[in-house]
Amino acid sequence: MDKLVIRGGVPLNGTIRVGGAKNAALPCMAACLLTDGELLLDQVPDVRDLQTTRHLLEAMGVETDAGSGRARHRVRLQAREIPNPEAAYELVKTMRASTLVLGPLLARTGRARVSLPGGCAIGARPINLHLLGLEKLGARLRQEHGYIVAEADRLRGNHYVFDRITVTGTEDVLMAAVLAEGETVLENCALEPEVVDLIELLAKMGARIEGAGTPTLRVQGVARLHGASHRIIPDRIEAGTFILAGLITGGQLTVSGLNPLHLRALLDRLQEAGARLRIGGDLVETLPGPRLRGLDITTAEYPGFATDLQAQYMALMTQAEGAAILTETIFENRFMHALELVRMGADIKIEGNRAIVRGPAPLAGAAVQASDLRASASLVLAALAAEGETIIDRIYHIDRGYERIEERLRAVGGIVRRIGRLIPQRPAGATAAS
Ligand code: EPZ
Repeated sequence: MDKLVIRGGVPLNGTIRVGGAKNAALPCMAACLLTDGELLLDQVPDVRDLQTTRHLLEAMGVETDAGSGRARHRVRLQAREIPNPEAAYELVKTMRASTLVLGPLLARTGRARVSLPGGCAIGARPINLHLLGLEKLGARLRQEHGYIVAEADRLRGNHYVFDRITVTGTEDVLMAAVLAEGETVLENCALEPEVVDLIELLAKMGARIEGAGTPTLRVQGVARLHGASHRIIPDRIEAGTFILAGLITGGQLTVSGLNPLHLRALLDRLQEAGARLRIGGDLVETLPGPRLRGLDITTAEYPGFATDLQAQYMALMTQAEGAAILTETIFENRFMHALELVRMGADIKIEGNRAIVRGPAPLAGAAVQASDLRASASLVLAALAAEGETIIDRIYHIDRGYERIEERLRAVGGIVRRIGRLIPQRPAGATAAS
């Protein structure tokens, strides 16, 4: 199993370019199931979750290919037919977002057999709201041996209010509604930029959706959709992670290719904590400055502070002056990184859904273990700031969402290397990941 070895204490300087958003590319790839036309997606990050998605779609009968070398971020997908509308447990257990195929499969073929994803490190992660929405549109669902078996003669438009805001739930039900008969009104929808990006792609494919970026989506179902080409939005979570890397190492790091509007909550809090940032049209540059002040954050749905940046922000707060209370409102178990940070010397107390971080606490390199995608990013940040060498195990978690992380950090001065056998991209029976 691969490990990352990081020697800390070196400021990151230079420019690091952000890739396409993993959490936009996932639903956009699933959208290929909605048409027999060709989908061309650009700026798709070359990360494990998207390789898994391609394998999942290929198993259904979808033609997919990605370029190589510099063209590896361009993916072509075409679901001429879908002889096997199924998402097998072996793949779903490695990536729970596979449930995003449920809505499109039902809409296009009238049937789907998708493994229930099960829980993961950060929480139970139920999909009940996805299923309720699909039933509202006329799907008949039953559970069989760990799978959801879904059937629908023709989905019919309806009115559905999500009990709570769910990103992939909004995406899943929306992708079913675009081919349903008549009008669908979805309320209490997620506002994340990744949802808006999917809506933009669906509109290019001929879908009729009003209300992008608002809690209410109004859909006029159409008989069929056609192919399209689309450039995936920049990954705001990767961008935020690298901005925090620049700050925690006290470097002058330019993170380019991002959309600052997608990072307002993070940037506002960082500047309030005393961070010196230069914010440009598609970049943010961190500037060396005085020690930051500890500042509380509470995670919330977009445009609030992203739960996917909570772990990385916690690493930074271990080096800030004073206390910072991090309140996690989205997932019930998203402080796994805190235990590993404490092993590196951080002063963190967990009280329910709150983590109290006291700084500055000098961090010392240690052998640590990643537990989920963003926790592993938090450990990388801490390692970059720690004195000495840190070995991070189970970094297949980080490979799920960050492309070539060690090369890109080395390019801006990080002392980072990968050790362990180079495992094939998709070992048979890949172990469960969060
Ligand atoms: C998406 O997950 C992201 N993944 C997550 O990013 C992100 O953390 C999360 O949204 C919140 O922003 C993708 O987009 C692929 P939710 P998702 O449904 O859609 C509860 C990463 O690191 N809920 O918005 O699965 C759920 O338990 C990943 O890239 C239900 O109760 O999250 C959670 O408490 C991690 N029933 C809350 O809602 C449901 O049917 C929000 O979950 C669905 C969700």
